[in-house]
Amino acid sequence: MTTRTLGVVMNGVTGRMGYRQHLVRSVLAINSAGGVALPTGERVLLRPVLVGRSEAKLRDLAGRHDIPDWTTDLDAALADPANQVYFDAQVTSARVGAVTRAIEAGKHVYAEKPTAETLEDAITLAKTARAAGVKNGVVQDKLFLPGLLKLKRLVDGGFFGRVLSVRGEFGYWVFEGDWQAAQRPSWNYRAEDGGGIVLDMFPHWHYVLENLFGRVEAVTARAVTHVPGRWDEAGGRYDATADDAAYGIFELAGGVVAQINSSWTTRVFRDELVEFQVDGTEGSAVAGLRRCRVQHRSTTPKPVWNPDLPATEPFREQWQEVPDNAEFDNGFRTQWEMFVRHVAAGEPFPYDFAAGARGVQLAQAGLLSSTEGRRVELTPIDFGGEA
Ligand SMILES: NC(=O)c1ccc[n+]([C@@H]2O[C@H](COP(=O)([O-])OP(=O)(O)OC[C@H]3O[C@@H](n4cnc5c(N)ncnc54)[C@H](O)[C@@H]3O)[C@@H](O)[C@H]2O)c1
Repeated sequence: MTTRTLGVVMNGVTGRMGYRQHLVRSVLAINSAGGVALPTGERVLLRPVLVGRSEAKLRDLAGRHDIPDWTTDLDAALADPANQVYFDAQVTSARVGAVTRAIEAGKHVYAEKPTAETLEDAITLAKTARAAGVKNGVVQDKLFLPGLLKLKRLVDGGFFGRVLSVRGEFGYWVFEGDWQAAQRPSWNYRAEDGGGIVLDMFPHWHYVLENLFGRVEAVTARAVTHVPGRWDEAGGRYDATADDAAYGIFELAGGVVAQINSSWTTRVFRDELVEFQVDGTEGSAVAGLRRCRVQHRSTTPKPVWNPDLPATEPFREQWQEVPDNAEFDNGFRTQWEMFVRHVAAGEPFPYDFAAGARGVQLAQAGLLSSTEGRRVELTPIDFGGEA
């Protein structure tokens, strides 16, 4: 068995996502398991080259994980021909510039979502990558969650009959930062720094809806800043200029209507931090991050509305658990393995920058809908050929 090594420049690894999900749970975990297996039987090990702004933080992080290569000089890392892939998990506002530099250096590029803050930039990025002939990919981790994989299995197996509607509930309380530290970075709450729940979450909802139920054709949304002031990492008060909740209706090809609430200003009375209920003519399902439960037409009870009596039906007990029937890996890691096989063995990878741009399009349309108080249609993006 032969093994080869792929140099991967990783920018933004001192951040929440870059460190835990991409470096530790994906790249280092892949190496610990002996690399990514290719169809030829060959294995690919990843050689991470950590890039960031703080020498001290990089040295500390590299030391903790025995990673020999790190630098604060992105261009130097990109100049090394052994580094064939560039990965970006920086704050959103820093993404386009760095990814463009990587494309210009001839690297294959993989990036967190959203790929850009504006649709124009996202389209330009997709076109630039295509013109350069480099492989490109965007993180779409929710697709690989056990709950959503089970939901996809139900869709593919025809469980629902005709899908009528999807209702999603995402959110939890993010502390303001005064008497308890906030559990998300403060830039998320400043529009001028690339924050906002629409820009953060609508790209996720876009690929979930597109991959499971159909193209998003129109959006009607209301984005709100419920909590106008918060406290940052240094304890200083700042104005929260970005939306912290968004209430959206998404119209899908084929007539499916999806409604998704996204909120950092709600308290959880659910089984998981995100849950989707799908109702179809033949059955319904409720999927979270890990679990998925179904109720078939044949087992659907017949509740009768009577507010004079207490509820007698144990509604939650009338659903059936969908079994795992498979081992589920960390979703970020699964997608990394796919991207490595895409780069090293030419396997297909549908989650490209064009898909990333469609996610940004939905975010931008959602914000426009909210600002102008109207329904906004999404026209298919012309990438000038296959993107
Ligand atoms: N896929 C997901 O589920 C998911 C979840 C959360 C965030 N994200 C995305 O991942 C990216 C990073 O989010 P995060 O929550 O890890 O953020 P974070 O603030 O924890 O990390 C940001 C990283 O970017 C670096 N950085 C570069 N330029 C910077 C600048 N000018 N100001 C501040 N930091 C700068 C920081 O040093 C740090 O390494 C964002 O684009 C976000 O949308 C994705």
